[in-house]
This record gives sequence, C-alpha cells and structure tokens, in this order.
Amino acid sequence: MSKNSKSVVFSGVQPTGNLHLGNYLGAIKNFVNLQKKMECIYCIVDLHAITVFQDPKELKKNILDTTAGFVACGLDFKKSIIFNQSSVSGHSELAWILNCVSRVGWMNRMTQFKEKAGKNKENASVGLYVYPNLMAADILLYKSTHVPVGDDQKQHLELARDIAQKFNNDFKVNNFFPIPEPLIQKKLSRVMSLRDGTKKMSKSEESNYSRIDLQDSADEINKKIKKAKTDSLPIPGNIEELKNRPEALNLLNIYSFITNSDLEKILENMAGKDFSKFKNELSDALVATICPIGKKIKELKNDRKYLMRILKEGSNKAGIIAKENLDKVKEIVGFISH
Ligand code: TYM
Repeated sequence: MSKNSKSVVFSGVQPTGNLHLGNYLGAIKNFVNLQKKMECIYCIVDLHAITVFQDPKELKKNILDTTAGFVACGLDFKKSIIFNQSSVSGHSELAWILNCVSRVGWMNRMTQFKEKAGKNKENASVGLYVYPNLMAADILLYKSTHVPVGDDQKQHLELARDIAQKFNNDFKVNNFFPIPEPLIQKKLSRVMSLRDGTKKMSKSEESNYSRIDLQDSADEINKKIKKAKTDSLPIPGNIEELKNRPEALNLLNIYSFITNSDLEKILENMAGKDFSKFKNELSDALVATICPIGKKIKELKNDRKYLMRILKEGSNKAGIIAKENLDKVKEIVGFISH
C-alpha cells in the first residue's frame, strides 16, 4: 500500500523509566500499525522529561532505552522517523510562539498538571505548567494530522487543536496548521494499575506490582498477575456485570486486547470460572507477547552505536521538515529571517 501523502502521524513518549504494558497497548502497538500506511514521526520527548528533574546520566540512558523499546516493539527506522526531541531545536522555538498563542485560562484547565504538581503547585517547574503548549508544538511543527495516544492524553490533544485553530484565525492563515485528530484505541484506551483498577498504569506509581514492564521476566509477569487485585466474584457472563468491578474489567480487557479476541466471547466462554484459572491464561498470553519484546530490548541496549545511528538519522530527517515549517511560521508571525 502506498503511504497517504497528506497524512502525517506524530506521537511522543517520555524517556523517564521503563516502558510498560500501558505504553505498549495504549500507544506503541498502534504506532507500529500506522507506520505501514502513513508517514510517521515518533519522538522520544526528552524536553518534556525535564519538566521534572532528571539525573543527566539516567536521562541519557533512558533516551537510548526508549529507542530500544520502540525498535523492539516493531518500529522500523527506515519506515518511520524516530528521534529525540531536543535534537530538533524547532520544538522549543515553536513552543515559545505557541506559548504566546495559548491562554492562561486554557492552561489552568489541564488536569494532568493538577495531578502531577499535586499540593505543591507553587514549587512545580514553569515547564510543567506550559508542558501542553510544548506538546502542541511537537504536533504542529510537522503539520501532523493524526496523533495516536492513550486516553490520558486526550485533553492535551484538545488543547493542541484549540491552539492550531487560534493560530490560523489570529494570523488569518486558514488551514495553515491542520487540526490534528487524536487516534485513541477504542477497545483499550487506558490500561489500569494492577493494584487499583481506578488508576492508570503508570511509570510513576511506586509499587512495581502495579505494572508490567516490557522487560519483565516470565517469572515476574506470573508473580505480578497472581498478585493483581481482583474481587471475590467469579467471571461474569456479560460486560454489563463488569461495570462496578474495575480490577476484573481491567484484567479481562488486557486479555482481550493481547489475544485479539472479543471481550463478549471471552466472557461467554469463561463465565462462572474463578479468577485464579483465568490469571494463568492471562499470564501465559502476556509472557508470549511481552517476553520476546523484553529480550529484544535487552539485546538492543548493548548496541549503543546502532541506537545512536537511529536517532541521528531520525533527527536529520525530522530537522528538515521542522525547518521548512518553522520558516513559514516565522514568516507568518512577522519575524525577519537572515
Ligand atoms: P507518556 O510518556 O506518559 O506515555 C506515552 C504514551 O503511552 C500512553 N499511555 C497509556 N495508554 C494506555 N494506558 C496507560 N496506562 C498508559 N500510560 C501511558 C500515553 O497516552 C502516551 O500515548 N505527553 C505525552 C508525550 C508527548 C506526546 C507529544 C504525545 C509529548 N509530546 C505529542 C503525543 C503527541 C506523555 O507524557 O506520554
């Protein structure tokens, strides 16, 4: 299939720790599917990472590990552009311009800032506050049309759309920035914590038992699934009965997604069984999918040269598109370029 020339897919992942099942099922799996049919740009967003202090050595390691994760999950740097954000200065430059388009009132509505800054808001970095504007810059720098993300990024995407619209209106450049469409998996938009089915699975949650990391061994996966919270009821016969059972729903959703089978069918087949049996099947399915990825990540991590080459090639390609678009933005805004 030839790639659709008008569509540009962009997405980013923070290099702040090990990639986990939520990143994979919510986002990266979709990145891999999209690279077959569209122009795709996938970014390791190191500028976003430093909105919370990062140990410089750790950050460098995490950027390379995330690159290894991308490749191990199936991203191909010959088909997609893979690079780290700070190596293309256009992200920061456009972010400043968009800081001046975006409104304080819009920022104040961002729930992720409130969650991340918590009670200590006064002491959060200014970068964390304007983080969504940088995210809009990432997307719009490439005039992206589609953005595959997990459900937790939906509000940021809506903001990027508002910023694109306001820029086009303020400067009377109809359609200059395309209004980017979020691509959110319908079946599994949010993988939840294994310890609390009402919270999303996340790198920042303290307990390792809350998430499956892509580099977990079969033993670790088995242990984590065994320990995963459920309730005392057996598996129900239909989705309706899972309504107030977030942990049960989460495990069944993961199983459905990872085995590519319909949740309703799974429930029909397993109705009345208790969770311990189901958990064995879930562990087996996870081990079969995740362990080969983890093995590949570990191999790739030893090949620093190869990972650096991927990022360099990607940065060069991304830099060319970014410069062309940023030059136009500067012209529109009224700057003088030399
Ligand atoms: P980040 O690094 O937190 O997560 C990377 C991607 O993984 C998805 N994700 C999940 N999906 C389902 N269930 C979960 N439990 C889960 N946890 C994470 C996220 O939705 C995301 O798609 N701000 C972004 C990175 C970013 C970006 C961008 C994304 C920066 N610029 C431009 C898209 C476009 C973030 O922190 O993702």
